[in-house]
Amino acid sequence: KLMKVFITRRIPPEGAKLLSQAGVYEVAQWDSDEPVPRAELLKGVEGAHGILCLLSDKIDAELLDAAGPNLKVISTLSVGFDHMAMDEIKKRGIRVGYTPDVLTDATAELTVALLLAAARRLPEGVEEVKNGGWSSWKPLWLCGYGLSGSTVGVVGLGRIGLAIAKRLKAFGVKRTLYSGRTAKAYAGEVGGEFVPLDTLVAESDFVVVSCSLTPDTKGMCDQAFFNKMKKTAVFVNSSRGTVVNQEDLYQALSTGQIAAAGLDVTTPEPLPTDHPLLTLKNCVVLPHIGSATYSTRGVMAELSAQNLLGGLQGTDMPSELTF
Ligand code: GLV
Ligand code: GLV
Repeated sequence: KLMKVFITRRIPPEGAKLLSQAGVYEVAQWDSDEPVPRAELLKGVEGAHGILCLLSDKIDAELLDAAGPNLKVISTLSVGFDHMAMDEIKKRGIRVGYTPDVLTDATAELTVALLLAAARRLPEGVEEVKNGGWSSWKPLWLCGYGLSGSTVGVVGLGRIGLAIAKRLKAFGVKRTLYSGRTAKAYAGEVGGEFVPLDTLVAESDFVVVSCSLTPDTKGMCDQAFFNKMKKTAVFVNSSRGTVVNQEDLYQALSTGQIAAAGLDVTTPEPLPTDHPLLTLKNCVVLPHIGSATYSTRGVMAELSAQNLLGGLQGTDMPSELTF
């Protein structure tokens, strides 16, 4: 009897190709760019030995029960795994694959682009060119904040945080602060100073959030956090939206408590088009595209397929999440 695999979305061909070459699996797929409705997902995973999912699929007890006892492996096309109930997965002895490292450069690059877009007001400038607001070169118009000589604070100096800090160094950043649970030996690569979160928030000109979403970091960026920031500081988040209290961020941006924000992640995703944050000129919101380069998504698809195959065959997975 063939082992069954369910893929929850259309993915880059590099991934699907690997699975079909293996030839010994019955591959079912929600073959669309749009998310699979929950009911279809629960039906699709029935009896599956392996599931290849995205960060937008909620992997909880209900889904694991719907899949049933065959399920050996869940492979997510993401580095984040906050969409999966890890305790329920562990209880059932299911292995998990994910895609760290391969998306670090693309995500760091996007974060730098977002930081610059917010700090130098690029979307506003583009808009003014289109709407006729560009009447002349004006000394006091569309001024923002630059990186040269600045202090950057990275909340969560993991793989991605480090890659962001390295790139920002090249812009002439004077001090790099970071916070997190523990000091990192590799922080020396960017001259990073390990400081309490409060210190980082108060002293940074750019506060960049790059931590994972955990019970500790959920809602961490709240009113008290923004109140400690400099009025001239820029806030950037490319981790998970739920790390931020968005009402508090809206208050901070609309009252001038902070200068600007760049978000690649929101709560919920997609952010409703009538959301208050989208009315603010000093808030740049992107649709969660940190890892979205052609090559990175191709490698992510390949890696997630290899992880899935390893789990199905009971062999090594190139990137297994140990928990
Ligand atoms: C993106 O947010 C990811 O977790 O890969
Ligand atoms: C977090 O996602 C990291 O890889 O740093």
